[in-house]
Amino acid sequence: MKILFFDTHRYEKDVFRAANEAHGHDIVFAEARLGPETAGLAAGYDAVCSFVNDRVSAPVIRTLKDGGVRAIALRCAGFNHVDLQAAAAAGIPVLRVPAYSPHAVAEHALALLLTLNRKIHRAHARVRELNFSLDGLVGFDLCGKTVGIVGTGNIGRVMCRIFRGLGCQVLAHDLCPDSQFAATEGIRYVALEELLGASDIISLHVPLTRGTHHMIDAASLARLKPGVILVNTGRGALIDTHALIHALKKKQIGGACLDVYEEEEGIFFEDLSESGISDDQLARLLTFPNVLVTSHQAFLTAEALQQIAATTLSNLSSLEKTGVPVNQVESPSAG
Ligand code: NAI
Repeated sequence: MKILFFDTHRYEKDVFRAANEAHGHDIVFAEARLGPETAGLAAGYDAVCSFVNDRVSAPVIRTLKDGGVRAIALRCAGFNHVDLQAAAAAGIPVLRVPAYSPHAVAEHALALLLTLNRKIHRAHARVRELNFSLDGLVGFDLCGKTVGIVGTGNIGRVMCRIFRGLGCQVLAHDLCPDSQFAATEGIRYVALEELLGASDIISLHVPLTRGTHHMIDAASLARLKPGVILVNTGRGALIDTHALIHALKKKQIGGACLDVYEEEEGIFFEDLSESGISDDQLARLLTFPNVLVTSHQAFLTAEALQQIAATTLSNLSSLEKTGVPVNQVESPSAG
């Protein structure tokens, strides 16, 4: 297949080239994000490959269809950036990588939490300036604390096991609780309200849907235990940023570890060190000493990249050979 990759970066090109040796697709890497202004670039290609901050809206899908594109391959798990109904109406299957090293994301979430709690980022900056003082660097033991895991899919389950290993009590919340998993791992499923009120650490691992959009808003922030650390490696819009900033200013919460941000498109993955950013909310977040932001990099391990490349390319190879989509994201109206 002739495939145009959008929003590509140096860290992934060689991985995709190596994985493609087993498939022999004709792949072209574009740096532009897929959106209304760039969809026309795909004319004459069989498929496009899209990443998390592309905007695969109905007009984009129409342009892709007019250009002859027959498949949209997402090189990610989340699909909230795709108009699935428009894709179904156009007869273009949307394929994704449903699971790739959930450990990559879970371990990054843990790294963020440990860094923020033990103030490793501040300690590192200090000792490089030959300041060996410990004042202001007090953290807390994770052992014995209560951790709330929201979403116990692939990643949330790894988080549950990690925190059990650290000696934490784990409360979990999911639309579909798995009682067998709970019994085996020694965790307890509770309603979201109970989890929010009882946890010292809360980590979000649900997809972004209408039901989860701003699930952490002013009302839920007001319910949290004082000093709670919030970790979000899910999607930015799970948290109402405006309400989060308010809670941080009022010292209602202990801190936030954010790998995702609701307005990250056009900022994350880019080097803006010379131009600066015009997003005032992100700029404000970056001023809090108890907020740690990474640029949507929780997935970024060698193992995860290899799995993403292998699955993305084999999704397209299977479609080409059999005409039957695998790892297809169903349109909500398709039931
Ligand atoms: P998954 O599909 O295995 O699990 C999601 C879980 O959330 C399921 O158990 C589902 O029942 C539950 N859920 C869905 N809606 C819910 C609701 N309204 N209330 C409670 N539970 C709900 O997904 P996985 O692989 O664990 O990934 C989770 C999310 O992490 C992805 O959707 C994606 O947005 C994000 N992600 C972020 C990455 C990063 O680099 N920061 C990388 C990969 C995924």
